Amino acid sequence: VSATTMSRPRVLITRRDVPQKALDIINDKCEVDIWHESFPIPRDELLKKISGKDAILCCVTEKIDKDVLDAAGPNLKVIGTMSVGHDHLNLEEIKRRGIKVGYTPGILTDATAELTVALLLATSRRMFEAHTEILNGGWKKSVWSPLWMNGWGLLGSTVGIFGLGRIGQGVLRRLQGFGVKRFIYSGHFPRKEGEEMGAEYVSFDNLLAESDFIIVTCALNDETREIFDDKAFAKMKNSAIIVNTSRGGVIHQDALIKALKTKQIRAAGLDVMVPEPLPTDHELITLPNCTLIPHIGSAEATTREAMATLTATNIVAGLEGHPMPAALC
Ligand code: DGY
Repeated sequence: VSATTMSRPRVLITRRDVPQKALDIINDKCEVDIWHESFPIPRDELLKKISGKDAILCCVTEKIDKDVLDAAGPNLKVIGTMSVGHDHLNLEEIKRRGIKVGYTPGILTDATAELTVALLLATSRRMFEAHTEILNGGWKKSVWSPLWMNGWGLLGSTVGIFGLGRIGQGVLRRLQGFGVKRFIYSGHFPRKEGEEMGAEYVSFDNLLAESDFIIVTCALNDETREIFDDKAFAKMKNSAIIVNTSRGGVIHQDALIKALKTKQIRAAGLDVMVPEPLPTDHELITLPNCTLIPHIGSAEATTREAMATLTATNIVAGLEGHPMPAALC
């Protein structure tokens, strides 16, 4: 091992399919240990491989908790997560140890907002159910029928957004061309962007009671964890459709399953759920009024490359003692 090799910081990358541009940024300055399989690094491998590293490039799938930080040891100075969400990081413990964290806000807003609208439409216009009808021969029987595969449009509706942050605003902006009658939102506080876009700030209870479509774009934290529970579903219209592209943990999943089965609400579209990946025999998959996609909100090629590049730049800046372009702490 040469002297130059020894002096270069050591970085663990938990995925092998990180875009090359990002790998080049890290490779240029650091010694890289990259997880070599196509699936995410298993927990026991993470605990082994992080030992002695100066930095880690991780994704939402890696829980960085006290055990991982202990396993890393005192060398760990920088965590770069390739995500805007950070509920997989124990920030309290990370801050206590003086470790810097970089993340990827902003650049995935458009991709995620776009996907949210796609999921909303796929759910309300029953696209996956309709596709299944083609596969299972249902179309041959129904041919074209006045009431077959009828969904529910946005025209004249009330759309409620829970969490009018960057992504929530992006969704609202995109839905403005759909003839929605009223946009309402709830969250911590009224936002000037809400007012600018003609959306009305309401209480959580009013959001539940008045929305035809509820779109969940909040962060997962102790205040929002399972906030959509039995009581919340009971306050919603029987015709309501809920769409979640934030985190599965915001919805009490058993309560949602009950609400979908009893027709307490009409339908749900989920990009996120608990657990991920969802087991193939999970009850959610059996519900025709539930549209599921596998956490692909930001899965858009240009966006993923930008996320990876920003994560790499954050890591190198953090290791060199420069301000990170997108620092969480
Ligand atoms: C995030 O960034 O938090 C997403 O969930 C993954 O893109």
